[in-house]
Amino acid sequence: MLAIIGGSGLTTLSNLDVSHREVVRTPFGEPSGALVFGQICGRPAVFLPRHGYGHSIPPHMVNYRANLWALHHHEVTGIISVASVGGIRDDLQPGDIVLPDQIIDYTWGRKSTFFDGVGSPVTHVDFTEPYDAALTDRIADAATALSIPFKRGAVYAATQGPRLETAAEINRFERDGADIVGMTGMPEAVLARELGVPYAAISVIANHAAGRGSSAHGIRFESLDYVLQEAMGRVRSIIERVVGC
Ligand code: HPA
Repeated sequence: MLAIIGGSGLTTLSNLDVSHREVVRTPFGEPSGALVFGQICGRPAVFLPRHGYGHSIPPHMVNYRANLWALHHHEVTGIISVASVGGIRDDLQPGDIVLPDQIIDYTWGRKSTFFDGVGSPVTHVDFTEPYDAALTDRIADAATALSIPFKRGAVYAATQGPRLETAAEINRFERDGADIVGMTGMPEAVLARELGVPYAAISVIANHAAGRGSSAHGIRFESLDYVLQEAMGRVRSIIERVVGC
């Protein structure tokens, strides 16, 4: 069973034929919301809205450990993370779909490991390739089969939020090699790795990053709502295909 974690712009999965919801209790507290179980074209899938129902949990307050633990508890075979991001690289426009392959973590103060309990052994997971290549291949193949354009390979800069970045911060991220910027990519990705669950991301460009393109004089999200909604329609189609429609 595949899991989909939805972010801004994908707070429900309308193509999921819901069978039941379950509030999972975890050793790490409450997940962002009840897990929504159902089927997409007859294949089982589970959905979790990262920011809660009603979009009330900001990126730095998401209980990533509880979310990942709950999905792992239900033995999901892979996690597709959907999130909106800012585009740093010149060729990335609002509405573009990007499949990142690397991460730089600029977040701080988040609970970012399962291996810090009393008595738990010191464990250093390999994180050389933060995203699962096979699952990313499946997403890419699905998009290709549907003739939905996407860009593969991008470095995701994970920022603390909830504020947006300064123009100088974006310049720094670019010098560091980042192509896109978002607030939720970490520690989600590493927690999946610690649990051994294949994890891949679909990033949707919501806006040019601060100081770039149409964001040269500030970022206005409202004007981009339509672009994001339309792009999330394409993301839903890709997910359907990955699940097996
Ligand atoms: N910065 C960080 N996170 C984001 C952005 C951004 O510009 N757009 C959407 N999520």
